[in-house]
Amino acid sequence: MNAVAAARSDNVTDSSTQSRTGLIDRLGLGWFFRLLSSSIGQKFVMGVTGLLLCGFLVAHLAGNMLLFVGEKSFNEYAHALHAQWELLAIAEAGLLLLFLAHIYLAFATTIGNLKARTNTYTLRQTKVPGRIIGANSWMFISGSVVLGFVILHLIDLRFALRSGIDYLVESDPGAPFHNTVAVLSNPLSRVIYFVGVIVLGVHLSHGFSSAFQSVGFNHPKYTPMIKILGKIFAVVIAVGFASIVVFVPGMWK
Ligand code: HEM
Repeated sequence: MNAVAAARSDNVTDSSTQSRTGLIDRLGLGWFFRLLSSSIGQKFVMGVTGLLLCGFLVAHLAGNMLLFVGEKSFNEYAHALHAQWELLAIAEAGLLLLFLAHIYLAFATTIGNLKARTNTYTLRQTKVPGRIIGANSWMFISGSVVLGFVILHLIDLRFALRSGIDYLVESDPGAPFHNTVAVLSNPLSRVIYFVGVIVLGVHLSHGFSSAFQSVGFNHPKYTPMIKILGKIFAVVIAVGFASIVVFVPGMWK
């Protein structure tokens, strides 16, 4: 390409970039994209999205605990949720955005970290002597396993699309309870769900306290307490979901 053509293509790129930036500013989202352009900003947004996802887990676990109470309670809860379909649609869209932002930033920060490290020695070195893989890498690996689990779980129970499961159609009043127990009664599902929720616990055991640091909460007195709280939170979530996987199918088959 000659210099004139190159300059023209630069102008085209400049003007399209300017009009995009203009639109973003007009929408009032300039601050958000400026935040995402720095690694501190990326970590901040990752921390906020992570904490909001923790909130979803608490609500989801509480609702699923009704599986222990019985068919009637769980179906009533699920139908009450679905009756508010406008609110549910907004909540689902928000949840999807949270997941997508969290996953995108996990990739962006991991690639950024890898680029910042120049050779295999520093790549394998961690702050903890004797440990080959650092906390960030474990977070990326455990997060990827949880992502795989969530995709399978949505196919299983949000869209009821797994082959070989004896689903009831959504309009059947008994569908929420029946379909959940049918999925969990499948031996392969039980293994996958068990591994999925334990790895989720591993992810949370570091992620919960790390999110507080990412949003700027770092205090000599409270940070050690938040670390302990993070471990307790991880155990409660993992054991809570795992107890459903282990006991519910046997109780209601
Ligand atoms: C034994 C454990 C679990 C059971 C029995 C369970 C059950 C369910 C059921 C029945 C639904 C369908 C809800 C509906 O259509 O209204 C659902 C949706 C969902 N679950 Fe789970 N779940 C479990 C664990 C998890 C975990 C560990 C996560 C996240 C890491 C998770 C994330 C989701 C998400 C994102 C949805 C879609 C929410 C929506 O669109 O409303 N679930 N789950």
